[in-house]
This record gives sequence, structure tokens and C-alpha cells, in this order.
Amino acid sequence: MRVLSGIQPSGALHLGNFFGMMKKMIEYQEQEDLFCFIANYHAMTSVSDGKALAKGTLEAAASFLALGMDPEKSTFWVQSDLPEVQELTWALSNFTPMGLLERCHSYKDKVAQGISPNHGLFAYPVLMTADILLFQSDRVPVGKDQKQHLEVARDIAIKYNNEYGEVFTVPEPEIDDDVATVPGLDGRKMSKSYGNTIDLFQEEKPLRKQIMRIVTDPTPVEEPKNPDTCNLFQVYRLFLDDAGVEELTQRYLTPGLRYGDVKQELFEVVRDFFAPYTEKRKELLADPDGLRKTLAVGAEKARYVANKTMRKVRKKSGLVY
Ligand code: TYM
Repeated sequence: MRVLSGIQPSGALHLGNFFGMMKKMIEYQEQEDLFCFIANYHAMTSVSDGKALAKGTLEAAASFLALGMDPEKSTFWVQSDLPEVQELTWALSNFTPMGLLERCHSYKDKVAQGISPNHGLFAYPVLMTADILLFQSDRVPVGKDQKQHLEVARDIAIKYNNEYGEVFTVPEPEIDDDVATVPGLDGRKMSKSYGNTIDLFQEEKPLRKQIMRIVTDPTPVEEPKNPDTCNLFQVYRLFLDDAGVEELTQRYLTPGLRYGDVKQELFEVVRDFFAPYTEKRKELLADPDGLRKTLAVGAEKARYVANKTMRKVRKKSGLVY
């Protein structure tokens, strides 16, 4: 089974990215045909500083590799190293009703936030569809925020196939309930654009500061607490096994629990969990040419599959004359 997903290099990666997508992708490479890329074309919709984007791209690649993405077991590349995806975007644009894009929440939300919309932001889901269809992906693991984009991808694939025969695999989204939406410091979805993230590779001080900012309710110490509505609990549980979750639940239900103590514990857990990966990431970033080489090999592997699809598309669409 081919499993594909991508991540934007548009800022620090956070726990939402890690539990919503990265962790699953790293696990999948053991049993599936895993395709994973750094979506730098997509990041152009929010980053207009070229130097920052280039730096962010290498950093995102190093982050994934440090966390365990293995370029021998998987196909791992940078989106823009395969401009074929832009050609496919154009072919698919002609099968994309305007209404389908006009209904997209992520577009509407950005406009509501006051971002003046341009064509890149509007066409974002078509490019994402091209990412998925170019590699004939069966499954796409994502967080819940990408659900509608996956529906768009399926709609476009079906429309193209209806016209030209079975050219594309129609992809299935994979959204696990327990990590569909990792909450941020304020309880809303953890997101760079809300400024409510806990970032993955930080020094102790800023990490501790972020975790101490997690919003909790004003239940007095001597009263039992409700784990289900507690942000801090919802983040902490991601690092625990079933027995650990049960134990933490019992502590919540027992009077005397102090949120400050739980935050300190969570800080230590997050710090210790990411410490080895932070070191590994530093080592990788110290050799940018080595990283570029790894990514170039990944792009070659990806191109082989992309070309197969593009040969069909060019022929079906009438570009071979
Ligand atoms: P991006 O870069 O915003 O996020 C990468 C992945 O992290 C997930 N995620 C979350 N999951 C749970 N809780 C959260 N708080 C949370 N925040 C982020 C996202 O759902 C995503 O899976 N458009 C995509 C990138 C992309 C892509 C693709 C994905 C481009 N082409 C093709 C799949 C297939 C995006 O912006 O992800």
C-alpha cells in the first residue's frame, strides 16, 4: 500500500504536527511503501521571505530525518525538486469546479483572519491534490484540519477518471480520532497561526515557558479535576501508554492535584523525549551538503514514480501530439 503525506516548512514544527502526522509516517515506513515530502511550494502561500523558506526547508527535512525518517526505507524529498507536480496541478485545475475551492474552510478562515487572498491560497488544494495523485497514493495520514482537502482530492480524481478512464488511484484519508486535533496552549487546535504551539526542538527555557502557559481551569487544589476538559491532560496523555493514562486520570480524580506540578512533569517528559532527536537534528544541520545529497536521492526515487503518472496524463490530456 502506498502511504503519502507532506508537511509545510513554514515555521517551527510542533506537537500537533508530530502526533497528527510525523509519528505515524515514521512508523509506517516499516510496513508500507512510504512517500513523504517537505511541501515548500505550499509554504510559499504564507512565507514571502525566500531566505527564510530555504532555511526552513532544510530544517524541516533535518527534523524529519532526526525523528527517524529513513531515506533507505522510504521515499523522502522536497516538493519543488519535482516541478512535475505543477504540471499536474494545471491539468487538474481544469477538472476543479470553482465552487469546490470556494467552500474550503482553510481558505475561508484565512480570509476571515484578514489575509488578503491571492490565487496561490485559493488554488492550494489543487496543488495538494496533485501531490497525492502524482504518486498514486492509496492512503494519506493527516490531522483533521486537512480532511476537507482530502475530499477535494478525491472529487478531482474521480472527475478526471470519469473523463479519461482509471488514471488516478482515488486516495483515502487516514485521520486517527485520538490525535485528529491536538489542542494548543489555549485549548484551540495547536497551530502556528494561533501562536499556541509547543515546539519540538527547543532549549529547556523556552520549552518550559511554553508549557507553563498551558491554560487550565480554576478548580481549587482540594477538589477533584476533570481530565476530559483539561488541555494539560489532553497533551500529556499523548506521551503515555494506557496504564499511564489511567494513572494520570486517577490523580486528576483525587483531590490535591496541582496543575503546576503536572506542568513541571510534562515539561520534563517532553524535554527528555525530544532531547536525543534535538541533538541528531543539530548534527544533520551541521552538514547541509550531506542533507542536500540525501534529498536529491529521494527526489530521484520520487521522479521515477511521478514520470509514470505524467506520461499517462500527458497522453490522456492531449499533450502528446
Ligand atoms: P501542515 O504543514 O499544516 O501540517 C502537517 C501535518 O500536521 C497535521 N497537524 C495536526 N494534527 C493534529 N493536531 C494538530 N493541532 C495539528 N496541526 C497540524 C496536519 O493535519 C498535517 O497532516 N496541506 C498540508 C501539507 C500538504 C499535504 C500534501 C498533506 C501538502 N501537500 C499532500 C498531505 C498530502 C499542511 O498544510 O500540513
